[in-house]
Amino acid sequence: MKTLTTITMVSLLSCSVLLLADDDESKGPGVVPVNNPLYAEECSACHFAYQPGLMPARSWQKIMANLEDHFGENAELEAEEHKALTDYLVKNAADFSKHKRSVKIMRSLSRDKTPVRITEIPYIVRKHDELSAKMVKDNPLSYCDKCHTSADTGSYSERYINIPGYGSWDDDD
Ligand code: HEC
Ligand code: HEC
Repeated sequence: MKTLTTITMVSLLSCSVLLLADDDESKGPGVVPVNNPLYAEECSACHFAYQPGLMPARSWQKIMANLEDHFGENAELEAEEHKALTDYLVKNAADFSKHKRSVKIMRSLSRDKTPVRITEIPYIVRKHDELSAKMVKDNPLSYCDKCHTSADTGSYSERYINIPGYGSWDDDD
């Protein structure tokens, strides 16, 4: 009986080690999924609704302060919605999240930097430096959900990547 317990424990242990190695998001999504219907509606007209946990609060404040000139587009909102969405983004920003990607994003960013693009955050830049120029030209990095098929659930695991025109990401090389 004792041996059996030991065997069970050893196999359980090696099993979880394998799972961890295979899936870096085995404990849940890397960022908290969007859970605010107003945000999901208002901020998904031109690109998918980025999770608040992908940028620090100061970045969201900077973006929300300049919606009339938003990357060349006018994304202005009514005052009431503007306030509700700013509050949502700030409260759920990467600085206040313990989720894996949010923590890594904050760790990679120096305090004196306030990027207005997720794609300029050092952790995100580093994670994409193996993609070819052509892949990124055909599928600009700002459109996360084009390649990350589970992006809307907050999961950016390598298991759920399919680059349009190129296929799934081979992480064996
Ligand atoms: C009218 C269209 C439009 C709406 C509505 C809109 N955006 Fe954007 N957004 C853009 C464009 C265009 C870009 C730049 C994408 C590119 O470089 O190809 C962008 C980029 C961004 C980026 C940077 C992405 C990156 O490259 O890392 C963030 C963050 C962002 N938007 C947040 C928001 C938020 C928050 C809202 C809602 C308040 C919003 N957007 C609504 C058009 C829009
Ligand atoms: C052109 C396709 C493409 C787009 C668009 C893209 N990614 Fe990625 N992303 C990848 C690939 C491929 C990898 C794996 C890279 C590697 O393993 O070297 C990756 C890796 C990542 C990782 C790390 C995953 C891991 O397990 O280490 C994160 C986090 C991530 N991307 C977030 C984003 C976010 C956020 C956006 C949008 C702002 C985005 N990506 C846009 C292709 C893309």
